[in-house]
Amino acid sequence: MPDAPRALISGITGQDGSYLAEFLLAKGYEVHGVVRRASLFNTGRIDHIYQDPHEPAPRLRLHYGDITDVSSLRRALAIARPREVYNLAAQSHVRVSFDLPISTAESIAMGTLNLLEAVRQHQQETGDQVRFYQASSSEQYGRVAETPQRETTPFRPRSPYACAKVMAHDLTVNYRDAYGLFACCGILFNHESPRRGETFVTRKITRAAGRIKLGLDREVFLGNLDAKRDWGFAGDYVRAMWLMLQQDQPGDYVVATGRSISVREFGQMVFAHLGLTFEDRVRFDARYLRPAEVETLQGDASKARTALGWQPTTSVEDLARLMGDADLELARREKTLRDAGHQMPAREGHDQQ
Ligand code: NAP
Ligand code: GDD
Repeated sequence: MPDAPRALISGITGQDGSYLAEFLLAKGYEVHGVVRRASLFNTGRIDHIYQDPHEPAPRLRLHYGDITDVSSLRRALAIARPREVYNLAAQSHVRVSFDLPISTAESIAMGTLNLLEAVRQHQQETGDQVRFYQASSSEQYGRVAETPQRETTPFRPRSPYACAKVMAHDLTVNYRDAYGLFACCGILFNHESPRRGETFVTRKITRAAGRIKLGLDREVFLGNLDAKRDWGFAGDYVRAMWLMLQQDQPGDYVVATGRSISVREFGQMVFAHLGLTFEDRVRFDARYLRPAEVETLQGDASKARTALGWQPTTSVEDLARLMGDADLELARREKTLRDAGHQMPAREGHDQQ
């Protein structure tokens, strides 16, 4: 039997990293992931696919590393000898990037350069051919120059996060042009799931709705309800990442549903699904506004549809229902524990984001 293809994922413990690892394992890959050392376990999203390293030939292998530490990336590449590298690691919260501009830029811009350089040198030293995926973002469009946004729409970034992503994107294109690296940028519009971090707005809303339904919370504090986003399902979007690296030629692709709705409309969908009224429960808090906002994003994924044969399977209504149901179930478990007298941990970080 031929050797299994190998992939290395930075950011494997995040939302997308976990779906991508599942997807690649199901395709028969041996998957290697870069994991940061943390004082508490940070592998909750991949625990269900974890394989004991003492087992013979585990197909999921984790390596301590950090995208800002090039030595750790070189080590992971040397062990994994991957055919494909997916660069998903980032401080990915736009609002937080205004509070942490330097470390955000380090993880995204310098981090991407670290990985590109490590891959380039690895190829030279080993003769291996590596395909590289960069997690670019619709946030790069910022104050949008046209609607819908496509691959040719200029970037006008509005946050330290987006500025750093533009630099990482340009570096990836540069390594393709200068060194012939098979490198692709996926310009992904917002994509969500029950594994979404709890301080992104969709998950903040679905968590609140589940908890309010069961009497664990009374209200939810949000910022700009008029912002519009093109929201899809993360499970669909990791398939597009993989498809980009299976083509004959590298390229950059927008990945989006083509439909945009406001934060308010998303909230109304979720609350109505759980038999609640959004307007009765939502409160405004200015601390969730951003110093510079991206008001509206809507993608045109025609190129991905035509060239990759990719299309989304999950509408935003489906997404609101599936995330609402998952967080109602989570709230049920929390209530059971609380009713049994367990002290509930404070909900992390919500006062900031
Ligand atoms: P996420 O859930 O926040 O995951 C980010 C991942 O990056 C986590 O595994 C995190 O590790 C890791 N990370 C952060 N700093 C790191 C560092 N210094 N060294 C190594 N790893 C580090 O984000 P996501 O939603 O899965 O997004 C994945 C990527 O796609 C990100 O680059 C994001 O900017 C980009 N993107 C996301 C969307 C979206 O809508 N989700 C859209 C466009 C682009 P810990 O678990 O240890 O924190
Ligand atoms: N997080 C948050 N919290 N956002 C809020 C809130 C709130 O309480 N109230 C309103 N919003 C608005 C934000 O101002 C923004 O316009 C919108 O909801 C979406 O915010 P997020 O869910 O934080 O996502 P994002 O669009 O800023 O960034 C996400 O998508 C990008 C792709 O466009 C992240 O996943 C980025 O990493 C990703 O690149």
